[in-house]
Amino acid sequence: MGDFDVDWLRLRGPADVRARAADLPLLLRPHLPKRSPLKVLDLGCGTGSNLRALAPVLGGAQSWLCLDADTDLLDRLADETHAWAEASGFDWDATDRRVTGAEPHLTCTPDLNCTLATRRFDLARDLAELPIEGIGLVTASALLDLVSETWLAGLVSQCAKVQVPILMALTYDGRVAFEPALSLDREVIEAVNRHQGRDKGFGPALGPGANGRLAILAAAQGYWVEVRTSDWRIRRSERALQTALIRGWSRAAREEVTASDQAGIAHWEAVRLAAVERGCSRINVGHRDLLAIPRRA
Ligand SMILES: C[S@@+](CC[C@H](N)C(=O)[O-])C[C@H]1O[C@@H](n2cnc3c(N)ncnc32)[C@H](O)[C@@H]1O
Repeated sequence: MGDFDVDWLRLRGPADVRARAADLPLLLRPHLPKRSPLKVLDLGCGTGSNLRALAPVLGGAQSWLCLDADTDLLDRLADETHAWAEASGFDWDATDRRVTGAEPHLTCTPDLNCTLATRRFDLARDLAELPIEGIGLVTASALLDLVSETWLAGLVSQCAKVQVPILMALTYDGRVAFEPALSLDREVIEAVNRHQGRDKGFGPALGPGANGRLAILAAAQGYWVEVRTSDWRIRRSERALQTALIRGWSRAAREEVTASDQAGIAHWEAVRLAAVERGCSRINVGHRDLLAIPRRA
């Protein structure tokens, strides 16, 4: 079991779905290879939320290979996708893990016919063995802030070699805004952002700088790059998500400051949690989505 459990991925799911930049998959569609099915590689797939967000918008015949180091999460991917398919009006075939049907909101999208496969794969250790040959789209969501500069450069260079489009959603970018605001907010989030730079298994993490680095690395490899903000706009009613975030930020920030500053952060946490409890707290968490298209595609 890794640092990302099923409950956390479920908790963030609705905020993720609302935040995604809707136009990037539509911009991507004409640049996808014409061969069918479209082969998609999902890096750090967790329980498959990227597939569920993206596959219906892309439409048509797709074959997803979903990679993650955490087998607990991979084991849940088919069940989570089955439940989502039923709730969204798609058909689910358990034998060959296939989702079929029409996306009810997108009349121009061809009917979805999407199979999914999962594979345990340590991206940090085995990047050189990434099964990228024949892939028509490399994608990930909520992964890039974990990775290092060296790793990201290696990934972009592999993608450029096979001229594959890249779509990276929901990369944390370091901006957090609270309502109501507190005087300590800035200090806490600055400490959180320093903590983000700690090694998450890939070497020193890029944290909030990851999306900007990806844009530069991809452009240098000849990609046309489009970036959108995809901020979480967490509602007053989303108390569980706010509580989990505030507790996590407080923990991370306290690891970054001196003992004398830790009490202030603990107080910040208590005041913030009380505001959540009273239903008067809203939080905006900055994220970016990035689409990179090989210029020759
Ligand atoms: C924040 S979660 C995002 C999961 C999913 N993409 C989503 O949007 O819900 C980050 C994911 O990266 C995976 N991960 C972290 N380090 C990894 C590694 N070295 N190799 C493969 N996957 C890794 C975690 O197991 C987790 O599923």
